[in-house]
Amino acid sequence: MPDKDHKCTCSEQPLVPKVVEVIDIIDRTPDVKSFFVRNVDGNGLPFQVDPGQCGMVSMPIGEAMISCTWQEEQEYLEFAIKRVGLLTDELHQIEIGQQIGVRGPYGNGFPVEACKGKDMVFIAGGIGLAPLRSFIKYCFKHREDYGKITILYGSRSQADLCFKEELFDLWPKESNTEVFVTIDNAEPDWNGHVGFVPAYLEELNPSSAGAVAVVCGPPIMIKFVLQSLEKMGYNDDQVITTLEMRMKCGIGKCGRCNIGSEFICLDGPVYYLKQLRDLPPEW
Ligand code: FES
Repeated sequence: MPDKDHKCTCSEQPLVPKVVEVIDIIDRTPDVKSFFVRNVDGNGLPFQVDPGQCGMVSMPIGEAMISCTWQEEQEYLEFAIKRVGLLTDELHQIEIGQQIGVRGPYGNGFPVEACKGKDMVFIAGGIGLAPLRSFIKYCFKHREDYGKITILYGSRSQADLCFKEELFDLWPKESNTEVFVTIDNAEPDWNGHVGFVPAYLEELNPSSAGAVAVVCGPPIMIKFVLQSLEKMGYNDDQVITTLEMRMKCGIGKCGRCNIGSEFICLDGPVYYLKQLRDLPPEW
């Protein structure tokens, strides 16, 4: 199995998880929960993360690569986890005070420095808002470094909208910021926009001049959003996405994440569209 140079910043036994305590759990939607963890001795974190980096979350039945939420003061790690299978079903059963394993951080993270001075257009669907939320929080923490911020988020239904407090209360209050939310189908008590993210994006048509678009969500949404962005005049070096779903071991050992010569876990998971165009079309 190919094994690229090990570049992660984890411990010398990179596959051995550290045991952490779950100190809080928030229900985000009927099938998404945020788990907040810290070291079992109450002192600090197993690792610090940059926006867009991931961590491996484990229980005895298995492990999964999950996006970590970047925090201004990192006193805990937050993992927003959608229930999609055996492991995540188990995770959704745990309670505050229980212990789980984590290892990381993994991945290159978002190019927060390279985006300084740009207008930022964040486009997310479903749980795809979780990684983008870290970049969004980072932009608001360093507000003067970024231009206009546009956030477009969509989910299947009202019930599936993640991070509602930020979407409807906190982020719209930020300066030079617009937040747009849509759901796929009309609901009796929903007065907001109805429709799919790519069509709404074209309707809103945020200017591509001096802008960078950051996209994360279901593959079908990403596919059509990328087409919309192209129509709207965004070049491939103005579009960023993350392929974290392809990561397994996180350290270049298992070969599950490679596309062509690229190892997503070592070289990504965050890429400019320009970089992805050079890869075989498996992404
Ligand atoms: S080689 Fe295992 S996730 Fe990349």
